[in-house]
Amino acid sequence: MDDLKQKYLSRIADAADEAALEDIRLAAVGKKGEVALKMRELGKMSPEERQTAGPALNALKDEINSALAAKKEALMDAALDERLRGEWLDVTLPGRARPMGTIHPISQVTEEVTAIFADMGFSVAEGPQIDTDWYNFDALNIPGHHPARAEMDTFYMHRAEGDDRPPHVLRTHTSPVQIRHMEKHGAPCRIIAPGRVYRADYDQTHTPMFNQVEGLAIDRDISMANLKWVLEEFFAAFFEVDGIKTRFRASHFPFTEPSAEVDIQCSWVDGQLKIGEGDGWLEVLGSGMVHPHVLRSGGVDPEQWQGFAFGMGIDRIAMLKYGIPDLRAFFDSDLRWLRHYGFASLDVPTLHGGLSR
Ligand code: DAH
Repeated sequence: MDDLKQKYLSRIADAADEAALEDIRLAAVGKKGEVALKMRELGKMSPEERQTAGPALNALKDEINSALAAKKEALMDAALDERLRGEWLDVTLPGRARPMGTIHPISQVTEEVTAIFADMGFSVAEGPQIDTDWYNFDALNIPGHHPARAEMDTFYMHRAEGDDRPPHVLRTHTSPVQIRHMEKHGAPCRIIAPGRVYRADYDQTHTPMFNQVEGLAIDRDISMANLKWVLEEFFAAFFEVDGIKTRFRASHFPFTEPSAEVDIQCSWVDGQLKIGEGDGWLEVLGSGMVHPHVLRSGGVDPEQWQGFAFGMGIDRIAMLKYGIPDLRAFFDSDLRWLRHYGFASLDVPTLHGGLSR
């Protein structure tokens, strides 16, 4: 019995893991283990022998069981220690700089434009990017034969033969939002409508998708003077130059009468463009008094209401303000470009907090 005890206690002490320990348990105190076999021999003993051997065997069994339990606990502790050592983390290390996304200049400038016009009482309206040719052209006084219709390089949606739904186009400008807004809300109104527009054109200053912002103000006694004041306020705030000069050139758009193209003051010094100084001019938008046909298309009575409208390229004013040379790069998704020209995500432009700082 002493041999058995020595054998198993030393094996238990040497067991490397819980599986080895289980093998030892089965061999020693399992149903067919060595101690059980010895117990069976009790039956063949004399009553006297049995009286000493019985309790001794039970004591041996208890001793082996508690050695097994103690070893098992020790193995679990060791495993836990090992795991804690492996998963150890130095919380005093400085944080690693993580690559962060930036706000695209188009989004930033759209926010800036919105903040400035909101301050002048304009709200933001939206319209679909796929629209009928009626909203995109006819309602804006551009009939089927009008040359502007060809000049717009329009993308038409495919129509299967025999499909007689009205033709749909990718809107070529944000002007159709004027009609949709008037139809829904009538007059008076004061809105801007920023968004994507599409034309089949591609070079350094043209991309097939680009961004415009439309403006529309309708009331009973609106004039070109109101248009001029609003635009000058806008340019002064946007380019952060007080008293920036504008130039209104007579022009023609089917949806306005009279119409004007608007230039802002600029200078070219050593090949560097500066906005709001000097005696050069840069064209930035089209505008005018809303044509009576257009008011009528939107269900607004031109005998009672009048208004001004304008349309401006968001990408273009973004390029001017932030010195971005090539329009095509706006839509290339080049990470180096995005990191260079992008804006920090928490710098939301407001008039009081600063538009672009
Ligand atoms: N829709 C014109 C364009 O895309 C821009 C424009 C000109 C809009 C004059 C207007 C406007 O509202 O009055 O070229």
